[in-house]
Amino acid sequence: MSNAIPWSRSRIFRDESKLDVDYVPKSLPHREDQIKLLRDYFKPFIANPGSIFVKVILLGDVGSGKTVVAKKFGLSVNGLKTKGGALIKFSYVNCHAHRSFFSILQKIGRDLGLSVPRRGYSREELLYMLWSHLKGANEYLIVTIDEADFLAKGGESDTLYNLSRLTEVVGDVVHRIGVIFVFRELELTLDRSIWSTLQHNLIRFYPYTCQQLVEILWLRITEEGAIYENAVSDEVIDMIGELVGHDKGGRGDARLAIELLHRAGKYAEGEGREEILPEDVRRAYSDIIPLPKDSLVNLRLEEKLLLLALTRLLQRKKFVSKIPIGLLEMEYQEVCEEYGVPPKRHTTVWEYVRKLSGMGVITAERSGRGQRGRTTLVGLSVIPLQTLEKELIKMLREDLKRGGNVRE
Ligand SMILES: Nc1ncnc2c1ncn2[C@@H]1O[C@H](COP(=O)(O)OP(=O)(O)O)[C@@H](O)[C@H]1O
Ligand SMILES: [Mg+2]
Repeated sequence: MSNAIPWSRSRIFRDESKLDVDYVPKSLPHREDQIKLLRDYFKPFIANPGSIFVKVILLGDVGSGKTVVAKKFGLSVNGLKTKGGALIKFSYVNCHAHRSFFSILQKIGRDLGLSVPRRGYSREELLYMLWSHLKGANEYLIVTIDEADFLAKGGESDTLYNLSRLTEVVGDVVHRIGVIFVFRELELTLDRSIWSTLQHNLIRFYPYTCQQLVEILWLRITEEGAIYENAVSDEVIDMIGELVGHDKGGRGDARLAIELLHRAGKYAEGEGREEILPEDVRRAYSDIIPLPKDSLVNLRLEEKLLLLALTRLLQRKKFVSKIPIGLLEMEYQEVCEEYGVPPKRHTTVWEYVRKLSGMGVITAERSGRGQRGRTTLVGLSVIPLQTLEKELIKMLREDLKRGGNVRE
């Protein structure tokens, strides 16, 4: 039965499949240059097929958009008819799944619609079979060898070497196959001889900034319709951008950003809510990147009290992810009173804030010019508030039993 029964319909996800890691979205902001370079490099291959052997390398960290750019390009060239009547085909091979020359050729064969024998063939025979198919059908193939690091690291560098000079290996003069190699790191994994046959046509992919991730996430929501627009807020999306943005100390990984949004949505959905809240993002983040267990134990008593104050405030203001430092200080004084500990002065509180944000537990930044002028906004994104509050109360009880501030 379909799950489109009205009462079981998600109040968060409009089309959850748009958040799949394999989904290729309509637009790829901030990757226009890379796509254009890829097109430019393959222009002669398509305009004058067979005349040159094009190899391109896509290089960048996880989640920088290499796979999706290669696939997007593949979709745009697959099935293209050239002026001379030849047909351009595209094939995608992930070396995590296909770790030998034979297995790679099998995958290419299947993408070309051939029935590829599983055994009884040598890789040479398989290669000739592909080649003569392309020749007979007047087809030219662009193949993406994704996660090629697995070949280099897995003792398959001869496979890489063969792929980087296919026409020679076959002994033809017509270049039937062009190759896009995708690597995370190059210099470390490749030996010199392969590097020198590959090094031309390198396209670099840089980690995404906070603003870029925010844009990518909003496009998944608005343009792609993954999530109902009123189920998310700027607050939530900005929070993810700040957690992952490379300029904010994060990984710059779009996959992580999308996964955080997806998981946070799952938490909201699981509780039957209509809206994703900052706390859902915290839960999602700590699922994927847990805070090291002992990072809070060594804090001073007052720092723990300050964190407890922040935790309480943010739980009360559940729609926002940050609060002005002035409010925090007031809450801190109340918490101190509750625990019978004299509160520290303003400047010391400031030092605590700086230290905790240096540790990556909280964030602190100057706000934009708001109604009440500029202030410092303090937030906490890496651990669910409920978990943190419980943990803090437990630690505080023990610290106080031991006689107050144990650490200087
Ligand atoms: N510029 C972009 N616009 C939209 N989505 C993107 C963009 N870059 C990456 N993504 C998405 O982020 C995820 C990771 O991208 P991917 O291409 O798999 O990264 P890589 O191959 O570099 O590890 C994918 O879901 C992809 O669709
Ligand atoms: Mg990839």
